[in-house]
Order: sequence, then structure tokens, then C-alpha cells
Amino acid sequence: MARNKITIVGAGKVGATTAHIAATKHLGDIVLLDIIEGLAEGKALDIAEASPIQLSSPRIIGTCDWESTAESDIVIITSGFPRKPGMSRDDLLAKNVQIIKDVSRNVVKYSPNSIIIVVCNPLDAMVYTAAKITGFVKNKVMGMAGVLDSARFSYFLACELGVSVEDIKCVLMGGHGDDMIPLPRFTSVKGIPVTELLDEEKIAELIERTRKGGIEIVNLLGHSAYYAPAAGAVKMAEAILKDKKTVLSCCAYCDSEYNVGGYFVGVPAILGKNGIEKVIELNLNEAEKAQFKESLDHVKQLALKVDKLL
Ligand SMILES: NC(=O)c1ccc[n+]([C@@H]2O[C@H](COP(=O)([O-])OP(=O)(O)OC[C@H]3O[C@@H](n4cnc5c(N)ncnc54)[C@H](O)[C@@H]3O)[C@@H](O)[C@H]2O)c1
Repeated sequence: MARNKITIVGAGKVGATTAHIAATKHLGDIVLLDIIEGLAEGKALDIAEASPIQLSSPRIIGTCDWESTAESDIVIITSGFPRKPGMSRDDLLAKNVQIIKDVSRNVVKYSPNSIIIVVCNPLDAMVYTAAKITGFVKNKVMGMAGVLDSARFSYFLACELGVSVEDIKCVLMGGHGDDMIPLPRFTSVKGIPVTELLDEEKIAELIERTRKGGIEIVNLLGHSAYYAPAAGAVKMAEAILKDKKTVLSCCAYCDSEYNVGGYFVGVPAILGKNGIEKVIELNLNEAEKAQFKESLDHVKQLALKVDKLL
């Protein structure tokens, strides 16, 4: 049986951690690529050398050469500048759009049948860029943010309630910014609506911490998060490669869905071998619709900026 091939572009903090998690999960052959000579090779070798200890047997190589990425099934794009304290994700747009443009052209050239998972920020705008440059069918281009943001919300809820993180199921929508929308009405603890277990004020506090979850880490580390973002990217890749039909919050193309009108934004979706197999449309109430509209307006503004830069 042919082995899956996963290319991870960018061997920095998110990229290398993604490679390590993917290797321990036996997801397939991994190619880690960076523009810095030696960086991807060194990290790939280090991950490979961990395999006898971890009893995993990944085939992983590091390279600067796109030829080695040919015929990948999935390309995870983590190549881009991260935030530093005092920066918003939007501040990264001008620099990262050029990187995504360059990378996307190489994806088209070497892996025209691949599925792309973008991780770089500002997330929704970078997914839009990758889709525009590659021209891939829209279900094969997506972004990882909702998996991370829902994980943060779930973790904070689990700590507050003193329950296992496994029991929390939550849905989160909107762009990957301070206006993201964790949805308590669609969040449950082993089937029990979270609204039955916590009062409005406490839920609002945890939503606020989730929205600021990225900057909380940036302020602690002087650099953005990477363990949880990498776990999120691998979760999406696994759902696709194993055709799991997993429901995950991710940045997906929506047209008539939620009346988005042709943009990439965070929504719950089913992930399987065809990428985004279906966007799940929730019956939002008026307050949720208003929040989604505000977040979507922000996503659209960034897409306009991308159009001007390309
Ligand atoms: N979506 C999310 O939830 C989320 C979470 C955390 C970080 N991020 C984003 O992920 C990106 C990566 O973060 P990081 O912490 O790994 O940064 P990093 O600086 O550690 O790594 C980025 C790597 O990309 C490489 N690179 C740059 N241009 C390249 C190109 N053209 N081709 C190949 N490689 C190239 C750099 O050499 C560097 O090694 C940032 O944009 C960050 O904001 C997103």
C-alpha cells in the first residue's frame, strides 16, 4: 500500500513540532522544508534519531529543495513570521503574504494534487492567499486555528469544572483573531450543555481568556505558541489521511454557507479524504449571527489587503 506523504513547510517552532507529532503518530513519510540551510535537515535527523526510543519508525527527511516534496498528499504551511509581544496577528500580513505566495507556487509545481493546511498568520488571510495562488478546488485548501482555539476553550473549561478534557466538546467560529467566537450553546461536557454547569459570567471570563490565549503565550515566551498549534495541524492532517470524517472547527471556504459570500473563515466542518467534505451550518441565534458578521467583516478587510499586495 502506498504510504502517505506529508510535507511541512517551515522548520521553525510550529513546523518542527508538527513534524515530531506527525512522526510519533505514524502518519506517513515526512518532508520538512525550510529556506535556512541545515535547519530542516538537522531537525529531521533529530526526530529520526528519537524513533528508536519512541518505537516509531518514521521516514523523515529535512531539505531546502522542493523537488523532495514532489507528490505530497498533504502540505502543511508553517513558513512565516510569528508574533512578538506588542504585535497583532494582522501586523504579519504584508511579510507573510509574500512567503505564502512563493510557497504556494511551489506546491502547485510539485504537488498539484495535494491538500493544503495553512497555519501562518494572519490565518484566514493566508488561507485566502494560498487558495488564490494555487487555484486549487476550495475544499482542498484550509487553515488551522479553530482546532487550537477550541482546545484552549476546552482546556480552560475542564480546569474550571474539574473534569477530563476528553469530556468537553466545543464549537468555535469566526476569524482567528480577538473576535473569534467560542459558542457556549454548542459546548457540552459529556452531552451536558456547559450553560447548565457554569454561570454566564464565568463562561464570559473563559471566552475572554480563549480570545486572548495567543497573546497570553506570546507575553510569557516572547514568541507565539507551538505545541498546541502543531497538535492542531496534525489533528487535521490525520482526519484527512485516515478519512476519519472528523468534525473540527477550521478555516474553510464558505459561499452560501452562513451567507459568507466566498471567503475562508472559521466554521465547523467534516474533514475526510477530500479535505473539507462539508461545512456544518448551525442555527445561530441573533446575537451569535451578529458576532459572526463582525468577525467576518474583519476577515473580508484582510482579504482586500491581500488582493492589493498580490
Ligand atoms: N494558526 C495558528 O493558530 C498559529 C499558531 C501559532 C503560530 N502560528 C503562525 O505560524 C507561523 C510560524 O510560526 P513559528 O513559531 O514556527 O515561526 P518560526 O520563526 O519559528 O518558523 C518559521 C520558519 O519558516 C521559515 N521560512 C520562512 N520563509 C520560508 C519559505 N519561503 N520557505 C520555507 N521556509 C520558510 C523560516 O526560516 C523559519 O524557520 C507564524 O506565522 C505564526 O504566526 C499560527
